[in-house]
Amino acid sequence: MDAIDCMKTRRSVRKFTPDPVSDATIEEILECGRWAPSGLNHQPWRVVVITGRDAKERLAACTTHGDIIAAAPCTFAVFLDKSYEYSYVKNVQGMGAFFENVLLAIHALGLGGVWLGQIYENKERVHVALGIHDENWEFMGAIAFGHPAEHGSSDRRPVTNFTRFAT
Ligand SMILES: Cc1cc2nc3c(=O)[nH]c(=O)nc-3n(C[C@H](O)[C@H](O)[C@H](O)COP(=O)(O)O)c2cc1C
Repeated sequence: MDAIDCMKTRRSVRKFTPDPVSDATIEEILECGRWAPSGLNHQPWRVVVITGRDAKERLAACTTHGDIIAAAPCTFAVFLDKSYEYSYVKNVQGMGAFFENVLLAIHALGLGGVWLGQIYENKERVHVALGIHDENWEFMGAIAFGHPAEHGSSDRRPVTNFTRFAT
């Protein structure tokens, strides 16, 4: 799959087979996230990898979409490290690039995943659930993934809908 196909065919997957995701695959996905762009190359992302049942249950209890986390063989809890004196907005933009790199890697490797943002509403609970007490870390969201048991079918507005040209 080339990069263009990957971007156009990725869809959120919220149902997974029980098959585990190998450590090598998890590392490859993180490796793709590592190459996301970020302001001043600060690479502000921090990730807690969740595969164990106990941690999964604790994280699942933090969101109304806990069933997705409970069913996913692996979930990344993604944090912003604010210890660099830099623009908060640009740091968050870099986090978005990280999330998208990870989602595209998941898809390119034949897996499926979904960006979970509802859980951000309970970010303090996530810190407690995962034992993250570093005050510089701010929870941003989660990515649940595994072997797909469904194919997403979302559509998009046409390009002309959101584009203007200036000459
Ligand atoms: C910031 C953000 C937060 C999201 N939060 C959730 C979520 O909490 N639960 C969920 O099921 N999907 C969530 N999604 C996935 C979107 O619903 C999905 O990307 C969108 O509907 C487009 O569908 P697609 O990814 O299949 O193309 C989120 C996506 C983004 C970018």
